[in-house]
Amino acid sequence: MSSSTLQQIVDTARSVAREVIMPHFLTAQRNQKDDGSLFTVVDLAAQEALIERLPRIIDRPVLGEEMPESVQLRLWHESEDGIWCIDPIDGTTNFVNGIPFFGVAIAYIQGGRTRYGVVYNPMTDEAFYAHEGGGAFLNGNPLPLRTPARHLMDAVAGVDFKRIPKALGDALATQSPFYSQRNFGSSALEWCFIAAARLDVYLHGGQMMWDFAAGSLIAAEAGARCSMLDGEALDMAPGRKTPVVVGASADLYREWMDWLSAHGGR
Ligand code: IPD
Ligand code: CA
Ligand code: CA
Repeated sequence: MSSSTLQQIVDTARSVAREVIMPHFLTAQRNQKDDGSLFTVVDLAAQEALIERLPRIIDRPVLGEEMPESVQLRLWHESEDGIWCIDPIDGTTNFVNGIPFFGVAIAYIQGGRTRYGVVYNPMTDEAFYAHEGGGAFLNGNPLPLRTPARHLMDAVAGVDFKRIPKALGDALATQSPFYSQRNFGSSALEWCFIAAARLDVYLHGGQMMWDFAAGSLIAAEAGARCSMLDGEALDMAPGRKTPVVVGASADLYREWMDWLSAHGGR
């Protein structure tokens, strides 16, 4: 575990974004997966580049979003000694629509825990990164960048309504307990916005492991608290959709969780 390892991961995310992803921003053609979600040849090319480069840093296999689920499951079941988990472009809908908000997410997982997490936003050249126990940073600056709101009523909330139970979605829309709400379209970066306290609380109804593996470590190292909607710890495995509840501080998490539980969250 070393800061030079972390720096190499950041450098890899930045170089893949610059060399493989950004030359195709605004020109990439969309394709549709069996589940209806979008991907482009750029997602595949970025995944290939990361599969080639990350094992040069730590020589373990890479599990990528764009692999068949059968391959992901096999890799995951062989991962006790460590595995990379990547989302080559998080925010593909933004990427193909020309909305300048997407990122490269890289996690290194060992023993079921994320040990290194890096999320890179090529549009702003912002690298968010952490290693377990070492704090979280944005381009060298310790996170969070500001003090989170003290109370939910003052909070800026990231709420992605995808897969949120109907009763809870209705309550969020009609009796919102926070000051203001956003949904940026890149889960990995939204976790980093919690880490920076650009967002105070966050909710997503069902994320895949590559959506949260990197960002959840970065947020935790910045002082955030999180769980699934039922209060249990986040659970990583391919093929599983995990609802996430996050607060930029322990107090905010508790207040957010209490409100969600009282309004159809469990
Ligand atoms: C998606 C984004 C989006 C979230 C979806 C994810 P992708 O990831 O993070 O914000 O709402 O649940 O699948 O497909 O762009 O990698
Ligand atoms: Ca994603
Ligand atoms: Ca993706």
